[in-house]
Amino acid sequence: MEIERILLTQAQLQTRIRELGAALSADYAEKTPVFVGVLRGAVHFFTDLTLRFPHPCQYDFVGAASYGDGTQSSGQVRLTKDVMTDLKGRHVVVVEDILDTGLTLRFVTDHLRSKQPASLKLCVLLDKPERRRANVAADYVGFTIPNEFVVGYGLDYQELYRNLPYIGVLKP
Ligand code: XMP
Ligand code: MG
Repeated sequence: MEIERILLTQAQLQTRIRELGAALSADYAEKTPVFVGVLRGAVHFFTDLTLRFPHPCQYDFVGAASYGDGTQSSGQVRLTKDVMTDLKGRHVVVVEDILDTGLTLRFVTDHLRSKQPASLKLCVLLDKPERRRANVAADYVGFTIPNEFVVGYGLDYQELYRNLPYIGVLKP
């Protein structure tokens, strides 16, 4: 397995993340939001995004895994780590690497909504709308991408490639 081509360069990622940070800053300046990152793919996006949010905020994380580690989601999602913050009455922004079939984020947002936050919005770096199976829409989207398996900047193939500073397409 190797990288066939670069889809999003480090500079493109940082430019867009600065814009997302500005949008979140406008919407959440007075709200002390809780940014909830979805482990592990969102780590780089989470840290770069929150550094662009210059107002009070809190961090928390959930772990979600779908069984199977190939390029296809099995569709069965389980929680591997829950948040530690009491989200009741809080403004929550879920930060995820990619919205693909939507099954992971539907599971995660259903779970977090059961904790009765004041609001819950979704911020994803990548959106692959062609593959959607669950009715989930993101409120903040970095890039809409075609239906190709991508790696890098947190995203993995069999746990590798997360440390690439760009997002690339794997050779088939
Ligand atoms: P679903 O299908 O549940 O997918 O919306 C969300 C999770 O599936 C993984 N995923 C990918 N991982 N390249 C990856 O490295 C991809 O193109 C890709 N598409 C989906 C990812 O873990 C995400 O959280
Ligand atoms: Mg993931």
